[in-house]
Amino acid sequence: MCGIAGYTGKRKASEVVVDGLALLEYRGYDSAGIALFNGQGNLQITKKAGFVSHLKKAVYGKEGCCGIGHTRWATHGIANETNCHPHCHGKFCIVHNGIIENFATLKKSLQKKGKKFLSQTDTEVVAVLLDEFYKGDVLDALGKVAKLLKGSFAIAILCHDFCDRIYFLKKGSPLIVGVGQGENFVASDQLAFVHYTDNVVFLKDNEMGYADSNNVFVFDFCKNKKVLHVEKSNAKADNVAKPPKSFMHKEIFEIPKALRMTANDFFNDEYKKQKAIDIFSKNDKVIMIGCGTAYNACLVGKLVWEKVLHVSAEVDLASEFRYKNPLVSKGTLVVAVSQSGETADTLRATKLAKSKGADVVVITNVAHSSITKNADLVLHTKAGQEVAVAATKSYATQVLLFLCIACVLSKDSKAVKEIKKQIDDLPYLATKALLCDTVVAKKAKEFCKKQGTFFVGRGLDFPLAIEGSLKLKEISYMHSQGFAAGELKHGSIALVDKNVLVVGIITQKKVAEKTINALHEVSCRGAKVLVVTQFDKMANEAGCHDVIKLPGATDLLMPILAVIPLQLFAYHVSVARGINPDKPRNLAKSVTVE
Ligand code: AGP
Ligand code: GLU
Repeated sequence: MCGIAGYTGKRKASEVVVDGLALLEYRGYDSAGIALFNGQGNLQITKKAGFVSHLKKAVYGKEGCCGIGHTRWATHGIANETNCHPHCHGKFCIVHNGIIENFATLKKSLQKKGKKFLSQTDTEVVAVLLDEFYKGDVLDALGKVAKLLKGSFAIAILCHDFCDRIYFLKKGSPLIVGVGQGENFVASDQLAFVHYTDNVVFLKDNEMGYADSNNVFVFDFCKNKKVLHVEKSNAKADNVAKPPKSFMHKEIFEIPKALRMTANDFFNDEYKKQKAIDIFSKNDKVIMIGCGTAYNACLVGKLVWEKVLHVSAEVDLASEFRYKNPLVSKGTLVVAVSQSGETADTLRATKLAKSKGADVVVITNVAHSSITKNADLVLHTKAGQEVAVAATKSYATQVLLFLCIACVLSKDSKAVKEIKKQIDDLPYLATKALLCDTVVAKKAKEFCKKQGTFFVGRGLDFPLAIEGSLKLKEISYMHSQGFAAGELKHGSIALVDKNVLVVGIITQKKVAEKTINALHEVSCRGAKVLVVTQFDKMANEAGCHDVIKLPGATDLLMPILAVIPLQLFAYHVSVARGINPDKPRNLAKSVTVE
């Protein structure tokens, strides 16, 4: 959540910081602000509600070589200029990513001491505390304050007494230092400084420190100095250039490449394949966890593993898993799926699983992300940077990895040979599936004013229905829900009338006829029916009004191919409703708060 970008060096900090924030804007875009030392030791604060582009107009070109900026995803306090970061008190000015869970208690006791607060944020309490504890040694104050805070935080800090330094503090939220030559960077994502340096230090939890233009120092909260581990960044500048239509559309069209890269990477890595076999063979229980789209990929993963490996698996929302005292112990394999590798719920659930003795396999798109630190095995989806808030190519590659793992673990060599052959064809089939873009755009225009959309499917089409529905609601704000096709008649069909669109997903041979029954049931009650299918004859039989035809493939591959028209449908409905699909309201790309 939120983007932090900080710079200290010889360049104009206003430009480096604002450009960095623009690259991080997908992480939060309620408001954006910057604090700059202007060269004479004075601190200038600029804040704007809304997008980083508003801030850019206000500060671009301003003098000063040291500054910190923030693009916010509000957790406490509405999105306005007052609550916008930076928050300053006395000698301190800070930007914060995360939540200070005990802020109310801390605030009350500070107010009792006469301290005044300007905003409704949880963040401001940290600025006030720092000023309270500061007696000339910033690190001392940082360490003391850090120990008082509950929750998660990545904080970049300026102090009036050191106007070329950026101090930082990290626990639970990502924070990275970029090491340049005569300049240094602090950010919540390597992307922020991708144009300047690829030398990075991934800060660990419970670390603090500071950077000036020539040095970076890291300490624990007790001021013990730590050794710097400078690594090479894997962020690429070419993935972040703004495409003509939108990031989401571009990323859907990158699915074929993402699939090819992911499969090649996995099948060519003998170490990872063997490790997967070893881990799998020592566990007799499997639990898959994730949030949102990653959770939906787990739902598919479960069915794929049941079908190919004949093992049963539980699937849990990471946010539920964490608080239900899960039945996890030695002998349990937990597969945690997260595009960003920074989702707080999934991170904490993974840590919990590890602490209870489970083996943890992580499927993630971001190589150095926090979740990888708790993994016995990390499997990378090679989808490339995903910028749009809606997960698209990452979902396709997550599902593919479940299938690839199944191939490696299965003892049925004949079946595996067949699936592998189809995986080889997958990029080609996905390219063919993308040809539906124009038809889908037409249908989206036609149906974009519907009151609601239901997605229905059976077997492997059921999780797809849930994913299609999530995609539509998050970027088009149209109410939608995904159902198991057979479940509709047990209650929810009461919602069906002529104002409703029903998208029937029919890709699984065995249950195709059954889904058709459900579509007849809604069609004769006035609903419009749009069918997504790989079977030619389904269209007429389903009493449907429109068909989106998919290339034919084995049932197991269909969750990857059939998601393409569903993602495109959500995208085009969003555009038809005048919404920016890359930055839907209230959302952010990675949810680093619980
Ligand atoms: C997907 O379109 C969503 N924006 C969201 O559900 C996302 O999948 C979820 O927050 C999990 O993110 P992660 O994969 O980065 O952990
Ligand atoms: N909790 C802080 C706020 O609401 C920070 C949110 C963020 O990470 O953007 O201002």
